[in-house]
Amino acid sequence: MAETTTHLDAVADPQPSAGHRTAAADPATDPHARIALAGLHTRAQELGRLANVTIDALADPAAALRTTGPDFAELARETVPRWHFAMLNDHERNDALAVALERVVPPGATVLDIGAGTGLLAMMAVRAGAKHVYSCEANPMMAEVARQVVAEHGFTDSVTVLAKRSTELVVGQDLPDRVDAVISEIVDCGLIGEGLLPSVRHARAELLAPGGVLLPRTARVLGALVQSEAAARLNRVDNAGGFDVSLLNTFATVGHFPVRLHTWPHRVLSEPVELAAFDCESGPLEAGRRSLSVPVHTAGTAHILVAWFELDLGGGVTLRNSPENVSSHWMQAMIPLPTPVEVTPQKPLALELHWSETKFELR
Ligand SMILES: C[S@@+](CC[C@H](N)C(=O)[O-])C[C@H]1O[C@@H](n2cnc3c(N)ncnc32)[C@H](O)[C@@H]1O
Repeated sequence: MAETTTHLDAVADPQPSAGHRTAAADPATDPHARIALAGLHTRAQELGRLANVTIDALADPAAALRTTGPDFAELARETVPRWHFAMLNDHERNDALAVALERVVPPGATVLDIGAGTGLLAMMAVRAGAKHVYSCEANPMMAEVARQVVAEHGFTDSVTVLAKRSTELVVGQDLPDRVDAVISEIVDCGLIGEGLLPSVRHARAELLAPGGVLLPRTARVLGALVQSEAAARLNRVDNAGGFDVSLLNTFATVGHFPVRLHTWPHRVLSEPVELAAFDCESGPLEAGRRSLSVPVHTAGTAHILVAWFELDLGGGVTLRNSPENVSSHWMQAMIPLPTPVEVTPQKPLALELHWSETKFELR
């Protein structure tokens, strides 16, 4: 890297100055405030590093405009999630989407595809009979990939790729009119992590014609209590080599995160229960909460609630990432219990489930 110094070098190692606002917690006396402050230093360092790498690249554009070499590899790793590969190789997912599109896209429809990726759904929708598909993609690199893939397959006249987040689209500017159908596959292991709720809510209100088609139509999230110290240890530590290192739990994930249940020793302690249900066509699609009473069938220590989705794509097609579906590229979602709980079949376990626009959490 060239010896470029910018004002961001100073940001990466900030010195307290007289003008800084006084924080509510005092890092001199509060160990957690010190950890939070170190977090801000970490972020500033990373932003400074990224700015310097970008300034260097702009200084030598001939080298920067290649997709080979370590700089591009780093950019690709940081900006294009690795799951795109596993997702596109998930034939159950691809086939389910193709069949549902064949069944639900009205012939001659104008369609909005939220989240182009490689343009797969947009091309499938044209193949299913759509007249034109507007396919938006929040990640500019993926939007460029979609544009090129669409062109390679001769779909340029019927698919317009827009390098924008769907919530930034404006009818009359990006789309000539409200569309006849909105299609999307923007779900994570716990359904809502990729922003399905705000994206569909916005598209339904602002971009879809009255009576228009939505794919997916509805979605449910199901869950079961699981005893698994091994899985719980993915998010918690107490002792390592005889030392108490539990301070690391400050960084434990509060919301749901992916776990492939069958790879960890575990015992399922309850039947599946419905955790949440979302109706894309007419439901509120907002953050919420639910008091759960989970019937227990096997006594044990509940460490986690394992969750998965059931996605009704329409036309009788349903996709699931339930624990039995071990070949799905989607893992299950692990929602940690605040503390492990002893459970018995005599008494259902009461839990308070909360969800934000993107995360499930137990309190
Ligand atoms: C799970 S991938 C699916 C890609 C493609 N539709 C497919 O099924 O192969 C979702 C893509 O949508 C993009 N995305 C997510 N939410 C979006 C939104 N609201 N607007 C535009 N792009 C979005 C992500 O950047 C990602 O590339």
